[in-house]
Amino acid sequence: MTFKILVTSQKGGVGKSTLSANLVAYFSRQMQLKTTLIDWDPHGSSSNWLLHAPNVGVVVQHLSLPVDQGGNRPIFEARLQLRNATKTSDIVLCDLTWSDSLAAELMFEFDMVLVPTSVSEIELGATSGFLSRNRWVFDSFAARRPMLLVCPTRVLPEQLASNIFTKQRFPVSFMLAPPVQESQTARDLYERGFLMDSEDVCGFSFLQFAQAVCAAREMRMAQSQNNTQQKVVSQSPATASSSSSERFATSTAPRPNVLDGLVGSAQYSILGRHRQRKLAETQKVESHHVQPKNPVLNTAKTQNEANKTVDTSRSLSSLGIPEFIRRISRNTTSAKL
Ligand SMILES: Nc1ncnc2c1ncn2[C@@H]1O[C@H](COP(=O)(O)OP(=O)(O)OP(=O)(O)O)[C@@H](O)[C@H]1O
Ligand SMILES: [Mg+2]
Repeated sequence: MTFKILVTSQKGGVGKSTLSANLVAYFSRQMQLKTTLIDWDPHGSSSNWLLHAPNVGVVVQHLSLPVDQGGNRPIFEARLQLRNATKTSDIVLCDLTWSDSLAAELMFEFDMVLVPTSVSEIELGATSGFLSRNRWVFDSFAARRPMLLVCPTRVLPEQLASNIFTKQRFPVSFMLAPPVQESQTARDLYERGFLMDSEDVCGFSFLQFAQAVCAAREMRMAQSQNNTQQKVVSQSPATASSSSSERFATSTAPRPNVLDGLVGSAQYSILGRHRQRKLAETQKVESHHVQPKNPVLNTAKTQNEANKTVDTSRSLSSLGIPEFIRRISRNTTSAKL
């Protein structure tokens, strides 16, 4: 399956083209993946970079997208271009400056959306606004919603210690990539070479960033595979002819949690670690308080676990009032109770 990445932000000059050119070079030369770059930026910065620097085997396409036409035109056009590129590639990466006239549905064409942002307050505000306007895409329950990676770029050494991303309340669930540091090298290498070969802090930070993107890609591919398997199980004739309780078990399988994808990424992300803790807490609370809707869902549990569930997951109606009030005061009640 071809993996499709969109590198986008509404702000200009945040480093989209620098990241795009260097990431495709990394995928192609280091990861040995067949890689295509689609440059939708009229200035063609990332495609020019690749076309003039030493050849790293990336297929480069500088194409136009009717961004200002609005409606479905850009999406149809993008689909067509992506379809052509995916025929021959393991990875297709698109470099695009986002415009409000674009329909956010375009993002569903991608497996992953990278949003580069500097860590100055003004740019974080703009990034937060951009994500907020498109949050329904990233928080959607659709299995094919793209994975969102916020990528701090042009980060100065003194900014490294700040944990601005936890303070700045971003309105969506996202993964935080390791920061790419600011350095003159990034400017000097334009059309000449690639950050992965630079031995300064910028090159080193870029390598960490690229490795994190690869790890996120693997997670996303594993997720997609899981979703496909679940779909196959729920559509197979065996399932169709199985008992109603089994059908119930498949159709009521929990929808993927937007936080699921963050677990494996925690090592790359301060926010990931925070969310991982939150997720673990939520799961703990739920496993103690939510009564399983169907015993079939519990078949893999040991008797011991089942006993615990029976003991601790009584429904609201069976709770004594004081216990229910205690739960409210602990803020652990949910609609499921
Ligand atoms: N890590 C970095 N360190 C120093 N300079 C950088 C870094 N990343 C990008 N730059 C510089 O910042 C400027 C903008 O970078 P780039 O063109 O990649 O951003 P962009 O988001 O694609 O811009 P645009 O919106 O105009 O397409 C360029 O001069 C580039 O050399
Ligand atoms: Mg650009």
